[in-house]
Amino acid sequence: MVATGKKYDVIDSSTGRLDRRIFIDQDVYDEEMEKIFGRAWLMIGHESLVPNKNDFFHTYIGEDPVILTRDAKGKLHAFLNMCRHRGNRVVRADDGNAKNFLCTYHGWTFGSDGKLEYVSGEQEAYYGSLNKAELGLVEARVETYAGIVFANWDNGAPSLEAYLGDARWYLDASFNRRDSGTVCYGPIKWVEPCNWKTPVDNCSDNYHVPVTHLGSLRSEVKFGATILDATYLTHNMLFKAPSQHLFVNGHPLTYSTVAEDQPRLAHGISKANVNQFIEYQKSVVPEAVRRLGEWRGRHLQLDNHSLFPNGVLGLRLALPRGPLATEFWHFAVVERDMPDEIKHALVRGSANNNGAAGMFEQDDIDNWRQVTESSKSPIARKTRQNLSMGVGHLNGDTKEAGQVSERYISENNQRNFYVRWQQFMNADSWGDIPLEPMVKQYEGTATMRG
Ligand code: FES
Ligand SMILES: [Fe+2]
Repeated sequence: MVATGKKYDVIDSSTGRLDRRIFIDQDVYDEEMEKIFGRAWLMIGHESLVPNKNDFFHTYIGEDPVILTRDAKGKLHAFLNMCRHRGNRVVRADDGNAKNFLCTYHGWTFGSDGKLEYVSGEQEAYYGSLNKAELGLVEARVETYAGIVFANWDNGAPSLEAYLGDARWYLDASFNRRDSGTVCYGPIKWVEPCNWKTPVDNCSDNYHVPVTHLGSLRSEVKFGATILDATYLTHNMLFKAPSQHLFVNGHPLTYSTVAEDQPRLAHGISKANVNQFIEYQKSVVPEAVRRLGEWRGRHLQLDNHSLFPNGVLGLRLALPRGPLATEFWHFAVVERDMPDEIKHALVRGSANNNGAAGMFEQDDIDNWRQVTESSKSPIARKTRQNLSMGVGHLNGDTKEAGQVSERYISENNQRNFYVRWQQFMNADSWGDIPLEPMVKQYEGTATMRG
């Protein structure tokens, strides 16, 4: 990591050369936990995981275990799963419904609103001197976007709305089309032997698809699991795709412009259900136009994308587990009012492709593992990763937000992801982290709240 006055200088934006040590170094990893996972707005779940009062869902902010609760008044909270006495975990289950959480070490008991309600021997052992009001569970800030729950430890961080910025204008096309909102299924959890940043950077890497996923694409079509027209997807087809590659306020995105009557096909749509799927999509266009305006409602399709730092294609998380391991959490988010048959087909299709045993996921994991492995070698580390594709080729089109690449197949988003990483790692506080002003017009009735 080159000395430039700033601690981290790992990516050269003019050449795309990237220092491999950020993938394997324990000290870098420890600092990421504080400077990135201690500061950023992080997806931790979905409102549909805790629909009722006193529901809870156990999740993580980086490596920290966190309880997402809906208290007795219906308010959402995110608490560090750590008893304020000695630090035992107060929740051991993945999810459930509980008015309070009993610590199984000495019995301190916390409410679903985090307040310390009961201390064994409060008078007899503590002589009435314990200030229970100061000993509630440690709480993170919580905000939601279209049902997705985000949390943040840093009181100096901007609002979630400012953090997403105009990335939301594009995200709305997937997550904010319906009045009834979305519902979330999952998670499927597994551990991948790679650094957490590699699957995130891969979200804007459509360059790999025709090669890495060649076998999966052909098998899917052969066995009738999809009608996605990708049997012989080639690089040439991608180079000509009517799609964009853009980096907005820290978030790498890609999108396509589709004809109004073009079905927005997804994994899980097969010959058996495609007609029902197309009917459903047609029926909701007027609602989508009312919510998102004419162009977004009719023509915008969000494609592969990630949310900084560790969101992977929607509400899927790359949770760091040391520099050499990532715990993947796969959720499927679908529109709540979809016909059940379509909903189930999409959830199954999503798991069959990107779940633990998903064909595409297994293709990807093998690459990511080797990218991390090679970074361990002192010899290999002398040679930097090459992220030079499309350097200097930005589209000057100012009607889009952020930095738009001239071509869809580019490494602009990947270079910028590591620039964003560096901005967080070099910052003393949120005051040093830049945010882009929001410039897009949000036509329609959709808001942050859904
Ligand atoms: S550690 Fe929880 S009551 Fe002692
Ligand atoms: Fe892939």
